Amino acid sequence: MLRNLSTRAAAGKPSAAPFVSGLLDQLPNAVIVFLGASKDLIYANPAAEVALDLSRKTLQRTTLYDLFGDSKKLNDMIDGVYAGNVATQRQELVLHATPTSISREPISAHVVISMLEDPTYLVMEWFPIDQQLRSERDERVSQQVEANKQLMRNLAHEIKNPLGGIRGAAQLLEFELPEKGLREYTQVIIKESDRLQTLVDRLLAPHRKAHTMELMNIHEVLERIRSLVLAEFPKGLKIIRNYDTSLPEFLGDKEQLIQAVLNIVHNAAQALSEEMRADTAVIELKTRVARSVTIAKQRHRLALDLHVIDNGPGIPSDIRERIFFPLVSGRDGGSGLGLTLAQTFVQQHQGFIACDSRPGVTDFHIQIPYRKQEMAA
Ligand SMILES: Nc1ncnc2c1ncn2[C@@H]1O[C@H](COP(=O)(O)OP(=O)(O)O)[C@@H](O)[C@H]1O
Ligand SMILES: [Mg+2]
Repeated sequence: MLRNLSTRAAAGKPSAAPFVSGLLDQLPNAVIVFLGASKDLIYANPAAEVALDLSRKTLQRTTLYDLFGDSKKLNDMIDGVYAGNVATQRQELVLHATPTSISREPISAHVVISMLEDPTYLVMEWFPIDQQLRSERDERVSQQVEANKQLMRNLAHEIKNPLGGIRGAAQLLEFELPEKGLREYTQVIIKESDRLQTLVDRLLAPHRKAHTMELMNIHEVLERIRSLVLAEFPKGLKIIRNYDTSLPEFLGDKEQLIQAVLNIVHNAAQALSEEMRADTAVIELKTRVARSVTIAKQRHRLALDLHVIDNGPGIPSDIRERIFFPLVSGRDGGSGLGLTLAQTFVQQHQGFIACDSRPGVTDFHIQIPYRKQEMAA
């Protein structure tokens, strides 16, 4: 077959032998065959046509440069194989679009270059690794969160211990003070110690495991939050219910879940002050069931899918990537703990929170898997 290929190439009009293409046509991965020297394409299978969004006819008139530009990494791989140093090269690459395929997004892919029996021809095969990249990124984020938690816990303990001493000493000092007017200063020490104490307690609190598990209805939880938030923001705010009332009951720590979702809804309400004045502020609470979800590498058959969506200005871009980290706040007087707590609580239910935000639409998305006993119920 390869002899066949090369004689055609020598005749000036290279094309893949029918049965080569017959085989490669069936493959789900994108495959192209090209001339090692000129990098002219002589064959592309249907998966490659789809991946590159170009017809086979167009593809056969192009070179590798037209498709992927002058990528040093790709060229090095090809040159290594073409020079006969190695039979195969594999690497993860980002394949960029070029004018020939301008509409295309860059493709993150695992790329394999190999030589055919006839070394005139090289084969390039690739498959996208978006999925893989995403799960690696999730993994990194959760490691980051875990490291953060450790850090906060240690830091909180380090602060907590001397704090009691400082407060006690200030109190003793206050008794000994000759002038009452000087108490102003000891009061500052005591008040600030108390404030730090509260902060530290909040940092340590979520790390206690969820233990009061009970069966509950998520809509009861949401109704409670809805009335709490409406009581605090009585003017100009609508909270829309978009509930799937067929959702099964849920096993969880009710106090924790209320706190988690309340923090999110509360943030949304706080972000909506302009809209409230204009009487256009809307928060939507949406519940659905999600099927076959993967959270932290665990596959779950069913999960609760909850969205808190507001029509406010969106999360400030400078903190967007960090909102779940402790002490990150975009508000004056904010503690930056609301979302950290929410995330900790949701993770203790094996779930996750993500956020998608642009001006006009901020969507906090929570997924919590149902456990087997709940599905049996
Ligand atoms: N729905 C929202 N719309 C706009 N910004 C938000 C929203 N939710 C959270 N944020 C931003 O994320 C920051 C962190 O929130 P959080 O962890 O609850 O801390 P805090 O509310 O104490 O600032 C907020 O200060 C705010 O800037
Ligand atoms: Mg908050």
